[in-house]
Amino acid sequence: MKSTKIMGALALVSLLGAAFSAQAYDGDWKRGRVYYRSVCTACHTAGKTPGAINPSSKTKAEWNAYLSADKHAKGKDSVKQWAGQAYRNSIKATNKAAEKFATVPDAELMEDVKVFLMKGAKDGDAPASCS
Ligand code: HEC
Repeated sequence: MKSTKIMGALALVSLLGAAFSAQAYDGDWKRGRVYYRSVCTACHTAGKTPGAINPSSKTKAEWNAYLSADKHAKGKDSVKQWAGQAYRNSIKATNKAAEKFATVPDAELMEDVKVFLMKGAKDGDAPASCS
């Protein structure tokens, strides 16, 4: 009887915890910065297009609109896919950031990149370059 109560209480606590953490994840801008510079920028500068894209090249509102539309490379693919585990796994042998963050849930890493872009935006707290 007693242990059933304890189990019930534990289940409730873990449920609340899950609901809370799902809602309250605060992006980690430092992790986002590492990822943006090491993965997003690495690809942008590897070929001829588009070249480095500084976070400070857009305002917060522009980044917000860009990320919610989630249309990358003129709509050819999605921004999210490049922060996803599948992509990280595919490059982790040669990319340290992708390797380091290989198991971070997709939504968390995307949020990290987002808060970094907001912070580094033209009108953000600390306008940032891409490298
Ligand atoms: C595999 C290579 C690759 C990766 C990884 C990549 N990009 Fe790109 N990105 C491109 C290319 C190529 C373009 C230019 C497309 C064009 O102009 O036709 C681009 C364009 C952009 C643009 C300019 C607007 C647009 O969409 O055309 C932004 C902003 C951008 N990328 C953000 C990101 C972010 C944020 C990440 C990381 C989460 C990322 N990219 C990861 C290849 C990549």
